[in-house]
Amino acid sequence: MPAKHPAACKKLLIIGATGLIGKYITLALVQSKSKFDRIAILTSADTVQNKVQEIEDLKKEGVDIIVGDVTNFKDVVDAYRDIDTVISAVGRNVIEHQVELIRLANDSDTVHRFFPSEYGTDIEYSPASANEKPHQKKLIVRAAMKSCDNLDYTYVVTGPYADLCLGPMMGQLGSFDVIKKEAVLLDDGNLKTSYTTMRDVGNLVTLAALHPEVSRNKALKVNSFTATDMEILQEFEEQTGNKWKISYTSMGQLKKIEQEAWSNGAPMATGATLRRIWAEGGTLYEKRDNDLIEAENVVDTLEDAVAEAIKQQTKSMM
Ligand SMILES: NC(=O)c1ccc[n+]([C@@H]2O[C@H](COP(=O)([O-])OP(=O)(O)OC[C@H]3O[C@@H](n4cnc5c(N)ncnc54)[C@H](OP(=O)(O)O)[C@@H]3O)[C@@H](O)[C@H]2O)c1
Ligand SMILES: *[C@@H]1O[C@H](CO)[C@@H](O)[C@H](O)[C@H]1NC(C)=O
Repeated sequence: MPAKHPAACKKLLIIGATGLIGKYITLALVQSKSKFDRIAILTSADTVQNKVQEIEDLKKEGVDIIVGDVTNFKDVVDAYRDIDTVISAVGRNVIEHQVELIRLANDSDTVHRFFPSEYGTDIEYSPASANEKPHQKKLIVRAAMKSCDNLDYTYVVTGPYADLCLGPMMGQLGSFDVIKKEAVLLDDGNLKTSYTTMRDVGNLVTLAALHPEVSRNKALKVNSFTATDMEILQEFEEQTGNKWKISYTSMGQLKKIEQEAWSNGAPMATGATLRRIWAEGGTLYEKRDNDLIEAENVVDTLEDAVAEAIKQQTKSMM
C-alpha cells in the first residue's frame, strides 16, 4: 500500500517534549520552525503544572500545547488530528507503550511518519544485539513499526550522549570529573566510541525531518564525533591546564559490575550493559549517515563537547 503523503514532514507532534532529550529535540525543531507548518506537543497535565516557564516559552514560540494522557486512546487520536509526523522522545519507562501510539498513528488519516524514542545505541548492530537486555523493549517497538504498512519510520541512532559520558556520574564505569580533575578510563583508554551531544541529537532529528525522503524507513546512524577515552582526557587536560589523576576499569571488571548489577536488580544495570556494548565497539560504523541529511560539518567536535562539559560541571559547583 502506498504511504499517505510520503514526502512531507511538516506538521509535527512531539511526545515527551519536556524530557531529558525531548527538550533538546523540541528546541532544535522550534529553531527551524519557519521550515515546518506546525509544531505541537502532547504533554501531561502534571508537566503543564510543574514546568510552567518551559511551557510558556514554547507557547510564545507558537508551539501548540496539547494536554492529555498518552495512555488515553481518545487523547492520542485527538492529538494526531492535523499532524503528519509524530516524534516520540518518551522515557525508558514508557518505551513499550509506543506500540499503541504506533498502531493509532498507522490508523490515522494524516500521520504517515513516526520517529520512535531511540536516540541511543544501535539496537540491531550485530546478531548479539538481539539478546541485550536494554534493547528488548525498543526491539518490540521496531517490530511494531515494521508491521504497520500504513506508516513510515525513522530511527535516529545517536550513540551515547557526550554530555553524560564526559561527566562524573558514571564513576567506575568511566567518568571525567572536572572539579576533582580525575578520570576513570575503560580498558587501556584506547577504545573508540562515537558520541552525540544532546544539542546535536536535537539538530540531527530536525535534519532528519527536513530530509524526509532519505530518512524514510531508515535507521540513521549519526553522531557528533568519535574519540578514545585517552583523547577525551587529553582534551580535558589541555582545556583545564592541569594534569589529571587517572584510573582504569578493565573490561573484566566492567563485565563483573554489569553481571552483579543485573543479579541484584540494581538501577545501574542498564547503564553498565550499555557501557560494555559501547566499549566493545557497538557505536562504530563503517560509515555514518550524517552526509545523507546534510549533517557532516555542522555537528559538535570533541573540543566543543569538552568545553561544554567544563562549563556544565563548573556551573553546578557555583
Ligand atoms: N544515548 C544516551 O546516552 C541516552 C541517555 C538517556 C536517554 N536516552 C534515550 O532517550 C529517550 C528518551 O529518554 P529521556 O531520558 O529523555 O526520557 P525522560 O526524560 O525520562 O522522559 C521523557 C518524557 O516522557 C514522558 N513520560 C515519562 N513517563 C511517562 C509516563 N509514565 N506517562 C506518560 N509520559 C511519560 C514525559 O513527557 P511529558 O512530561 O511531556 O508528559 C517525559 O518528559 C529514550 O529512548 C532513552 O533510551 C539515551
Ligand atoms: C495499518 O493500517 C492499514 C490500513 O488502514 C491496515 O490495513 C493495517 O492492518 C494496519 N496495521 C496494523 C499493524 O495495525
